[in-house]
Amino acid sequence: MRFFEKLRKLTDRRGARSAKQHIGRVLLMRRLVFRVDSERIIASIDREKFEAIRDRYAVENPGKAWPKYLEIEKWITVNLQRVRRLELDWGRRKRVLDVGSGAGYFLYICKWLGHDVVGLDIDEVPMYPEMARVLGLKRVVFRIEPFVPLPDLGGRFDLITAFMICFNDHTGENLWGVREWDFFLDDVSRHLTPRGAVCLELNPQLDGEFMSAELEQFFVNRGAMIERHRVTFTGPPRPAALNGSTVG
Ligand SMILES: C[S@@+](CC[C@H](N)C(=O)[O-])C[C@H]1O[C@@H](n2cnc3c(N)ncnc32)[C@H](O)[C@@H]1O
Repeated sequence: MRFFEKLRKLTDRRGARSAKQHIGRVLLMRRLVFRVDSERIIASIDREKFEAIRDRYAVENPGKAWPKYLEIEKWITVNLQRVRRLELDWGRRKRVLDVGSGAGYFLYICKWLGHDVVGLDIDEVPMYPEMARVLGLKRVVFRIEPFVPLPDLGGRFDLITAFMICFNDHTGENLWGVREWDFFLDDVSRHLTPRGAVCLELNPQLDGEFMSAELEQFFVNRGAMIERHRVTFTGPPRPAALNGSTVG
């Protein structure tokens, strides 16, 4: 009896895994067969549930505040550009972690394209978890703080992203410097596959700059390419000690 029970569980698990792989393959085919455009992506979202969120949280002239993310056409377009820049609209299925995932549009597009996605964010804006539910996203609640490692995220990632970053206290008194970023990059590396990439997009600091010259040099020393506010590592960041960059 116990043997058959075990066998049933095993085949159930295998069945679930193979069904998941099949769904992943079907979704990847979508990129080849259909145009990947904003309208198609928006049409795939449950309109009624999204409108219910919009009714609850929309404000006139949100400016820079979070209700701005209810302007779905604009933000799906912005995030589709991010997806394309990172070449997630073709190629194999990837595991993607988005840090500070906000309304979740970037991960939703990734998921729609067949990738396996996880978001990480704080729990301050109630609209974000509600959006994650509507978009069917897995979201881990965690506050990034200097010198505190990320939690267990259930396996490694092919790509770790963070867009319009706020966790570095970009306009506050405790703006991250080289030491904080050094710890973060080392920590993030532990969650990457051997060829995993990292894409960070910084917000402007109080002085209008995205990063100091010292920080830019530090990122470059660790193997990053810098384009204005964007810091891209096409593979895991190089260890600081091996390339002579100083962290002090
Ligand atoms: C400007 S929003 C950007 C949202 C999203 N990445 C995008 O580009 O649309 C910043 C995001 O970072 C999150 N965040 C702020 N401080 C954080 C922290 N210490 N740890 C993790 N997430 C944080 C916010 O909740 C929000 O989702």
